[in-house]
Amino acid sequence: MTTTNVTPKTHFFALKELPAWKTLEEHYQKIRNLHMRSLFTEDPQRGERLSAEGAGIYLDYSKNRITDETIQLLVKLAGECGFRERIDSLFLGKKINVTEVRAVLHIALRAPKGEKIIVDGLDVAPEVHAVLDRMAVFAEQVRSGQWRGYSGHPIRNVINIGIGGSDLGPVMAYEALKHYSKRDMTFRFVSNVDGTDFEEATRDLNPEETLFIISSKTFTTIETMTNAHTAREWTLKALHHKESIARHFVSVSTNAQEVSKFGIDTANMFGFWDWVGGRYSMDSAIGLSTMIAIGPDNFHSMLSGFHEMDEHFRTAPFEKNLPVLLGLISLWYNNFFGAQTVAVLPYNQYLKRFPAYLQQLTMESNGKHVTLDGVNVDYDTGPVYWGEPGTNGQHSFYQLIHQGTRLIPCDFIGFCQTLNPIGSHHDLLMANLFAQTEALAFGKTEDEVRAEGTPDWLVPHRVFEGNRPSNTILAERLTPETLGKLVALYEHSVFTQGAIWRIDSFDQWGVELGKMLAKRIIPELESGTEPQLKHDSSTNALIRRYRRLKS
Ligand code: F6P
Repeated sequence: MTTTNVTPKTHFFALKELPAWKTLEEHYQKIRNLHMRSLFTEDPQRGERLSAEGAGIYLDYSKNRITDETIQLLVKLAGECGFRERIDSLFLGKKINVTEVRAVLHIALRAPKGEKIIVDGLDVAPEVHAVLDRMAVFAEQVRSGQWRGYSGHPIRNVINIGIGGSDLGPVMAYEALKHYSKRDMTFRFVSNVDGTDFEEATRDLNPEETLFIISSKTFTTIETMTNAHTAREWTLKALHHKESIARHFVSVSTNAQEVSKFGIDTANMFGFWDWVGGRYSMDSAIGLSTMIAIGPDNFHSMLSGFHEMDEHFRTAPFEKNLPVLLGLISLWYNNFFGAQTVAVLPYNQYLKRFPAYLQQLTMESNGKHVTLDGVNVDYDTGPVYWGEPGTNGQHSFYQLIHQGTRLIPCDFIGFCQTLNPIGSHHDLLMANLFAQTEALAFGKTEDEVRAEGTPDWLVPHRVFEGNRPSNTILAERLTPETLGKLVALYEHSVFTQGAIWRIDSFDQWGVELGKMLAKRIIPELESGTEPQLKHDSSTNALIRRYRRLKS
């Protein structure tokens, strides 16, 4: 693959003026009141027909408020938006992150050895593999006990310090792949600048056996740097010698200068590149804690899962392309039905942090209100993603999904095999998943409720109108490879939506203002003398009250 260093010209379009958009608007009026009950009755094959399989993942999208025509029109819309060229630009390493003038090459992180990926005239693939090889050597040293702490103890505890993409991916992957992890080691993750996070993560650990991985793309993020300094003090307090830092601290960053300023030997630094976005980095060196936990071979299986989904996304026709279908269906609800959120419901306890991980991936990527040309959009962009593992959610917020006034499209994720076969737990779990999708789609009619002998006054409360959409994503078993495929599925689905909305899914300017204002407020909170506050009256009053009560 080759790239130029020129920002690619994007195919200009005014989304709502496109013929396919206009036809979709008319189509929406025609089908908005169609019920899934009749769609399924009229077409007995619907459940099998409206499904797709790619990279070993099965997507059932039949329980959606769509017809064949909806999919054809959405695919047509993608075509009119020049989405095929956008996919090519992504894979060719063109600078599609236009506001930061950067290539977006997370796909290079999982490209197999030997594949060429040229950025600014340089093949980046050998560098990617060189870092992976160094990570593997280090991970094995730590896992085998060969890497010793300063006082000669083997490392038993690994703490990743990072935030956002430098935390959520590692935590999610560790939790997801715990089954494959080295059980005699402890892995923890500190992200919040609230000292409680650090305190609770370290209170029962021996500093002589603890390794910190300071993960920060920029190495300037205030939360991470504050926690990293606290970690250094905690280590020095126990080990007394500055030289101990080299045995207890490694870093993952793109900023060698700041890493060595902090006092970490750059020999103990694992690099990555500006073309890896924070929220797209769990398969880069940011995954070092994952690699130590599950071992290099499992990490490589995860990368091959990512790559398999990348290839499916790059090559499959849109009508059979899982990330494209997932993205287009989500856009259908967002822009035509006015849905505000998407619930992600993994029926797997190991995926308990998957919704939190997806929140950054989806919302930091697509929470934008201007197009690539800097013009305000006149349509909604990124919906709110949220969720909890099943079956817990069923006993909490599902009520609203079933009988509330809002339309909440859901993604159910399940596995045919369990990693913990205990009695009939897994069948029970999966029965619940299937039942929920069925209940949401078909509901329970007034006649059915009456036929159960329900008294008149109670009937309205017991009716489920149904017609509530869901996708079901089914895989064989949760393995490192499957996790890679699932994450890549969502990464590319986010890109699909962002490309159609014509926004930059790879920048995050929206986080800057808060950071800047916090910097201004810090000295006002810390100052020994009453500061002259120049904020609005609310912020001034809050700061004054805090100062008064803080001690
Ligand atoms: O919150 C903004 C952000 O820049 C995220 O995009 C990123 O993942 C996170 O901060 C952490 O950044 P860094 O890895 O540079 O510390």
